[in-house]
Amino acid sequence: MKQYNFNAKVALVTGGIKGIGRAIAIALLKNNAKVVVCFNQDTFAAKDMEQSLKEQGLFDFLILQKDISSRGQVRELLRAIEDKWHQQVAYLINNAGILKQGNFFELSDEQWDRTLAVNLKSAFILAQECLPKMQFGDAIVNISSVGGQTGGDLASDYAASKAALISLTRSLARIASKQGVRSNAVAPGWIETPIFNDKRIEELKLEAKTKIPLGRMGRPEEVADAVLFLLSDDASFITGHTLNVNGGMYFG
Ligand SMILES: NC(=O)c1ccc[n+]([C@@H]2O[C@H](COP(=O)([O-])OP(=O)(O)OC[C@H]3O[C@@H](n4cnc5c(N)ncnc54)[C@H](OP(=O)(O)O)[C@@H]3O)[C@@H](O)[C@H]2O)c1
Repeated sequence: MKQYNFNAKVALVTGGIKGIGRAIAIALLKNNAKVVVCFNQDTFAAKDMEQSLKEQGLFDFLILQKDISSRGQVRELLRAIEDKWHQQVAYLINNAGILKQGNFFELSDEQWDRTLAVNLKSAFILAQECLPKMQFGDAIVNISSVGGQTGGDLASDYAASKAALISLTRSLARIASKQGVRSNAVAPGWIETPIFNDKRIEELKLEAKTKIPLGRMGRPEEVADAVLFLLSDDASFITGHTLNVNGGMYFG
């Protein structure tokens, strides 16, 4: 993997204790960023993450349990970051997301609202809270999804949230450019993470052989590579873009 230097600035990775977020957090720590990750429920995975980072000799991190769909909890999170490092968030990675697949006609109002709150509203709240203090050269990356580009018959709430996240990314690119901050999205295809249970992963692995031109599911580290590129100065003239990391599943 390419080496970057994120100059000991603070990166916030929402939902960074497992799956794609965890890979992003580890990659950032290995490239000289201070990293804060938050999670919602899974204290077991959070402990595992903490132990694993320490075993890898990575110590410049903070792990906090906060629901990022709540503005109050986001403010607590940002205060904790400031208290620890006396620095502001320079790199905001809106990664946390939820997906529950099922029949469209059984999708409840409650599920619709929760999915939109976690996958979309959180990115709005975090951008609104972080952006005023971000500096020239800082960057935002939102983790969208191929589902937001193609629609999804099994998760229309999720697909709508991820499509809107691309729109929010573009709005933020216009708003943030005035202060020299870039905003981009990454749209992963099928990535092997705990968002799917083991049975679903086995099904997707089989389907990938025919549905994905590169013939396989992706790895979280392959998404992290794209995120680090977009955060880095190598992408200094790229903003408002959505980078597909999907093995050729969708080209738009
Ligand atoms: N895996 C894929 O194929 C795929 C494809 C396209 C896009 N994506 C997107 O990539 C992102 C990461 O997905 P993943 O596959 O790595 O998922 P994952 O393994 O299920 O991890 C999701 C993370 O988000 C956290 N989270 C959920 N709700 C939260 C909340 N309200 N507040 C704070 N944290 C919260 C979870 O914490 P807890 O476990 O504690 O709840 C967990 O750490 C998501 O936005 C997902 O939609 C994934």
